[in-house]
Amino acid sequence: MEIKMSSSTSTEPCEIVTGEACGYVIFGASGDLSNRKLIPAVFSLFRAKKIPDNFFVLGFARTVMDDHAFRLKVKDSIQQAYGDIVEPEIDTFASKCFYVAGSYDHNDVFFHLNEKIKYLGKMFATGGNLVFHIATPPTLYATIVSLLGKNDLVKRKQNKSPFQRVIVEKPFGRDLESAVQLNKDLLEYLTDQQIYRIDHYLGKETVQNILMFRFANQLFEAGWNCQHIDHVQITVAEQLGVEHRAGYFEQAGLLRDMFQNHILQLAALVGMEPPVEFSADSVRDEKIKFMKSIRPFDLNNLQKQLVMGQYGSSNPANTQTLKAYREEEGVATTSCTETYFSMKFFVDNWRWKDVPFYLQAGKRLEKKLTRIAVVFKKVPHGLFAGNWQGTIPSPDVLILDIQPQQGISFLFQAKVPGSKMCLEELRMELDYREFFGAKMDEDYSTLILDCMLGDQTLYWRKDGVETSWKLLTPVLKKWAAKSQKEQDSLLERYAAGGWGPAAGKRLIEQDERKWIVT
Ligand code: BG6
Repeated sequence: MEIKMSSSTSTEPCEIVTGEACGYVIFGASGDLSNRKLIPAVFSLFRAKKIPDNFFVLGFARTVMDDHAFRLKVKDSIQQAYGDIVEPEIDTFASKCFYVAGSYDHNDVFFHLNEKIKYLGKMFATGGNLVFHIATPPTLYATIVSLLGKNDLVKRKQNKSPFQRVIVEKPFGRDLESAVQLNKDLLEYLTDQQIYRIDHYLGKETVQNILMFRFANQLFEAGWNCQHIDHVQITVAEQLGVEHRAGYFEQAGLLRDMFQNHILQLAALVGMEPPVEFSADSVRDEKIKFMKSIRPFDLNNLQKQLVMGQYGSSNPANTQTLKAYREEEGVATTSCTETYFSMKFFVDNWRWKDVPFYLQAGKRLEKKLTRIAVVFKKVPHGLFAGNWQGTIPSPDVLILDIQPQQGISFLFQAKVPGSKMCLEELRMELDYREFFGAKMDEDYSTLILDCMLGDQTLYWRKDGVETSWKLLTPVLKKWAAKSQKEQDSLLERYAAGGWGPAAGKRLIEQDERKWIVT
């Protein structure tokens, strides 16, 4: 049974905050991320008038193109993202877009880039403010920042005017050592206040809402601890497979791709203590404190805590056969890269003593679903008579649906009308998008705007990235030290289009709990 919830809160739009005048420079401007996410996100800020007129976009990449060709590409990405847009808006936006072609590691090219930036800065009166967004392969991050520094395009300074800020895409390192090194390389030319390590999950409205939900409401927070919560579970399921990203994914695997960043951030938002104030550093301090409290994995007993899987081919609805990961283009036929993991960990602090956190994520699962479920303890005593005499009803569950469904549901027990004593689980539900609808910003728009405003709350800090790698690196090393044959035998196979390997289910079911994915 289900009941809908309404809200009496004002539906007036929140105040629109407009970013400062600036130039937005994309490295990797001819690439997939720029086309699919960055250009549409900046356009949507422009359309919502969250970007002032004093603004330009400068694309930089190896592909040879002139401004005109880049503008056609820009228009195409916008049409792909928002098919319904009227032409004049796109044309006005495109007229603010420019392009420089060149190699990412040539000083001369950066000299030329500098000239163009100066010229555009004057033309659009941006006051020298610059946001650089590095969306290239990660091996180029340090080189690009060093050439920006050497060509005076960035100077190490706190948030002083004119500002120069650098958004760095994920992956930020591939283990603790490389992340520490990358931080060192970037900090030679920038202060940490100028580095915006992006995690697009943090830009999602429903992810931001976790903190509001917890700390602007007393009801749930009062029981948000080991006395009342039985366990926390997070599922990040994707229906898509590796698509055209095998080159990257073969090197990364799902632990690096999803856990080190997005999923650990979700866990931290659920588990952290209230920050002293809602400021970038206070929020990040608490998240990092939570991550530091996660009990390190027991490397001699990893199979008790961690399941790694890989999808095999299947024909779920007897329609089109779904390829196995090893049959995907660009994937080695003997690949032991994991496309699924599930894990269980404990958090060694007062709030979470003995409360397990179960996390699972995978590609090519049955459907796309990002969900956090906080499962409360059962009531201590079976009070109700009739069929229920002595039976303990199912526990209350709070579900935070991040995507594609966006909302909050609460599952609780209620009496079914009638002369007999019957209980039924009801679902109280708020559909976030239905209620807030058009006001929802896309993740990248929120994050890019925050960078233009100098707000780092939704970005990773240096010590955060290092803390999360510190937790995972021993596991990754242990896995890497195994022979191909050992990895092959440990990797749990699952049918594409299903809910992951049987071992992933066992991980939670052996504790008499279950994944809440339907
Ligand atoms: C990216 C990962 O960070 O997040 C991808 O590299 C993954 O592998 C993607 O598909 C998922 O993002 P979203 O927003 O679609 O859940």
